Amino acid sequence: MSPDDFRAAGHALIDWIADYREHLEQRPVRAQVEPGDVRRRFAANPPEQPVAAEDLLRELEDKLVPGITQVQHPMHFGWFPSNASLASTLGDIASSGLGTLGISWESCPAATELETVVCDWMRQLVGLSDAWEGCIQDTASTATLTALLIARERASNYAESRGGLQAESSPLIVYTTDEAHSSVVKAALLADFGRDNLRRVEMDPATRAMRPDALAAAIENDLAVGCLPAAIVASTGSTGVTAFDPLEPIGEIAGDHGIWLHVDAAMAGSAMLLPEFRHLWHGVEAADSVSWNPHKWMGTILDCSLFYVRDVEHLVRVMSTNPSYLRSSVDAEVRQYRDWGIPLGRRFRALKLWYHLNLDGIDAIRERLRRDLDNAQWLAAQVDGAEHWRVLAPVSLQTVCIRHEPPGFDGDALDAHTLAWAGAINRSGAAFMSPAQLDGRWMVRVSIGVEATTRAHVEKLWALIRQSAAEVQS
Ligand SMILES: Cc1ncc(COP(=O)(O)O)c(C=O)c1O
Repeated sequence: MSPDDFRAAGHALIDWIADYREHLEQRPVRAQVEPGDVRRRFAANPPEQPVAAEDLLRELEDKLVPGITQVQHPMHFGWFPSNASLASTLGDIASSGLGTLGISWESCPAATELETVVCDWMRQLVGLSDAWEGCIQDTASTATLTALLIARERASNYAESRGGLQAESSPLIVYTTDEAHSSVVKAALLADFGRDNLRRVEMDPATRAMRPDALAAAIENDLAVGCLPAAIVASTGSTGVTAFDPLEPIGEIAGDHGIWLHVDAAMAGSAMLLPEFRHLWHGVEAADSVSWNPHKWMGTILDCSLFYVRDVEHLVRVMSTNPSYLRSSVDAEVRQYRDWGIPLGRRFRALKLWYHLNLDGIDAIRERLRRDLDNAQWLAAQVDGAEHWRVLAPVSLQTVCIRHEPPGFDGDALDAHTLAWAGAINRSGAAFMSPAQLDGRWMVRVSIGVEATTRAHVEKLWALIRQSAAEVQS
């Protein structure tokens, strides 16, 4: 494709995207397809001849768009807000257009140095001290895996340079709770701690936050039997019910025992942009690593997960590679982000944050977050005030966990009722929410925070919810 052809096709695509976003509300929220429907729209064999860009755009519209669950739709209340602000989308497009290769400082000094700048801006915006240095990872899952790998190496005094974990005599232990995101378990398993060495620390039954006394007791038990406590993964805003593990006492325990403390603030990190919510991660300065996702509620388009550590030298010692073909004469003076994580080749991700912060501005972002927090409180008040409806967990941020509990429904019948009213709404395409289990019973998480969602949309949702519950009950 020549630059001129690119210009023409690119303008058409940008116009199409602008229209698509503008009229998103007219589309169903959930993808209106059955498994296999999308695949069947495509030929089994690859195209042999090029097709015209306008024909491809038509195929995008006709064959692929119906297979997209519209998470930018104002009636999307599922999973978590996965905002993709148009400002940050421009940065992502710039990153693709520049076609950079981030494998060393030399391969793209601008990508390396802008990443340092925006990570430091973001550090300041969430109130972390200047003891932290950060980089951009693709996802929080990768950040947690990186944290557990470096925790493992610190606890084992760099077993990787000897026989690895296979040669260690004491099992290394990771502590978290049942509220932690599934990526924490996955990271612990991939980092080779082994499921038997993953401790699920007891939680406060009301808040589902880790109990520091239970953590301390679990560590003492492990020490008594010759295990080596290596890492604690605390949640700042768990996925299920937005639980906040108390970081100050957990940090003290971690410090007393020299255990790595990683804070997973993937979802709630955005709330730390608001000074009035920072008490929720009070004590974070005692952690060793923190990650949070601007690609969630804050609205920087996927993929953009910030990963901060206090001891960069340790991170680099575990992650660094230095093949001869990547060396340059300035290596002693520059940062090599390939040594801050797993991939070698990195995209110019800093551009999307740079665009987002500059074009939207932090005041507007903060205002939107406060709007969503107000909307969540409004919905919680409606649910609380309605007969036979319950809010099941504290509404710490923008997620409201609800259940309709009409008389005569309990146990499996209540589960079936919950899944029926939520499923009917989701299937209709009018709105989307995530049913999830809490203490073995189904409830519905209403996660508010799509950029386009206003109070009117939340009011509409509440009307739909009551109507659906009444219809399936009768
Ligand atoms: C608390 C928490 N941690 C981790 C993740 C995983 O995020 P990612 O998709 O960036 O790996 C999520 C996603 O919902 C989350 O809510």
